[in-house]
Amino acid sequence: MCGIVGAIAQRNVVPVLVEGLKRLEYRGYDSAGVAVHTGSAITRVRRVGRVAEMENAAAEINLTGQLGIGHTRWATHGGVTEYNAHPHVSHGQIAVVHNGIIENHDEQRERLKQLGYVFESQTDTEVIAHLVHHYYKNGGLDLVEAVRVASRELSGAYAIAVIALDQPDVMACARKGCPLLVGLGEGENFIASDVSAIISSTRKVIFLEEGDIAEVRREGVKLTDQQGQPIERKIHFSDVSLASLELGPYSHFMQKEIHEQPKALADTIEQVLHDGFLPALFGAGASEILSQIDGVQILACGTSYYAGLTARYWLEAIAGIPCSVEVASEYRYRDAVARPNTLIVTISQSGETLDTMEALKYAKSLGHKWALSICNVKESAIPRASDLVIYTRAGAEIGVASTKAFTTQLIALFALTCTLAKLRGKLTAARETEYLDALRQLPGSVQHALNLEPQIRVWAERFAGKDHALFLGRGVHYPIALEGALKLKEITYIHAEAYPAGELKHGPLALVDENMPVVVIAPNDALLEKVKSNIQEVRARGGEMFVFADLDSHFSESEAVHVIRTPRHVGVLSPVVHAIPVQLLAYHSALMRGTDVDKPRNLAKSVTVE
Ligand code: AGP
Repeated sequence: MCGIVGAIAQRNVVPVLVEGLKRLEYRGYDSAGVAVHTGSAITRVRRVGRVAEMENAAAEINLTGQLGIGHTRWATHGGVTEYNAHPHVSHGQIAVVHNGIIENHDEQRERLKQLGYVFESQTDTEVIAHLVHHYYKNGGLDLVEAVRVASRELSGAYAIAVIALDQPDVMACARKGCPLLVGLGEGENFIASDVSAIISSTRKVIFLEEGDIAEVRREGVKLTDQQGQPIERKIHFSDVSLASLELGPYSHFMQKEIHEQPKALADTIEQVLHDGFLPALFGAGASEILSQIDGVQILACGTSYYAGLTARYWLEAIAGIPCSVEVASEYRYRDAVARPNTLIVTISQSGETLDTMEALKYAKSLGHKWALSICNVKESAIPRASDLVIYTRAGAEIGVASTKAFTTQLIALFALTCTLAKLRGKLTAARETEYLDALRQLPGSVQHALNLEPQIRVWAERFAGKDHALFLGRGVHYPIALEGALKLKEITYIHAEAYPAGELKHGPLALVDENMPVVVIAPNDALLEKVKSNIQEVRARGGEMFVFADLDSHFSESEAVHVIRTPRHVGVLSPVVHAIPVQLLAYHSALMRGTDVDKPRNLAKSVTVE
């Protein structure tokens, strides 16, 4: 969603802001803007559409300056217009960029109107600009103090960066609920909502915490709390690789990330193979916590939720531990019954999904004693709020459609399953060896699945013209059907639904005719014969079937039953391998429909609002 970048230096910062905003494009946005201190004024350039359009507009006026802030906006309050794009200014004196939502903006707006402020946008952010201006100009406070006082009066979630015309040597930032970090350079400093925005300038970063106020100058950074007391935060060295932020030889990040899966999986598996299924994988104190739990409650959204649904089959079957999985946005608003010894497991690629974060806080408030997070972004908000964490090693995931994050999340969940099984005496030494071996083989099996791409491209040609599709699976492959349908609808805009194949005749079968392609995930497992019967039900109604099977599934092809076989059966880890063909099917169908694969309409990579 929205992204923030800012810089204060002894050089022109406009290229830094533009590059930073381009690196934030992946998060999803609909307008972009910068505000730069030019020496005599704060000059703003904003455009609806791509950062490149804003960049051209800035170049036309030869915008330069040594202090500036920039923003990519994903509209929430107010439509997609230049007026609503950030930065927002007050009286040409104060400029603000903001991520998050100010919940009391109506009330503040009324108050500021009474004070004579005139609003030019429908955003909640403009309230911040005027409020800071009010304390700065009328209250006689300096910029940092004005931001501190103003932020105490804002409710909701925010990360803000503010500059002032009269103070060309400082940038003030505040953080509550939304990520913001400071990047430390030599004689220059930076701020960003995401480390990727500033990675070409510095890798030394400080992650701001709740309530932190940062005073960022060229020569240094001072951190204080909301009362003005100095605070210290650790300096981190970011290991995000520049290569992971660039396309290289690929046409799309989604394509790149699909093909990176053997490596992403091998990297994630490496930490498991190194020590075996030991609690230490999940951090200090894991042994004590994991041996006391009596159940698992998984909370997540979207693709991460489907990873959780897959894990439920493993956790109950292999570890014999009760497991529930719930969409975070539902859980956080229902009167759930707390089971204090049930481990809360949150799954989030970004680690900043608001619904997942709020569900975690809610679970804790209900009395759940322990939380474990599975996350791909180091030091992000959700792992920081958890007792235990395992990081997936997928590398930066830029495409809005999650691919390598999903399959690596499955590895983390499988490792959790086996660790719990071992602690509970349910994993024999022979089984442990078998599972470790299966993990070792997995990147190779995934590569074999990727090699099916030419055949899947042919299927995609038939899919591209359809308006609807059904996905079917059973057991542990049902969540893969759900994930396949989500991928397809997300990037092709084809309406797709997934069902457990056994549910077909309880309703969805009525939809099946020759215009409804039906994708079936049907590897050789205990439910294969049942799936085959379900397929007959579709065939009898004229439906065209696209079956992903494995070598042992023994499907016979016919005119309306197309089969692609993954080269080997990988047993318990089969859902990981079967995620690959459904990703490729969605990707190639989207290419043929000409959609914006990496930035599908209406969607954002990190969903930091409700
Ligand atoms: C996946 O393709 C989606 N874009 C989306 O469902 C995503 O998985 C969801 O928003 C959760 O994100 P998270 O893993 O970063 O929390």
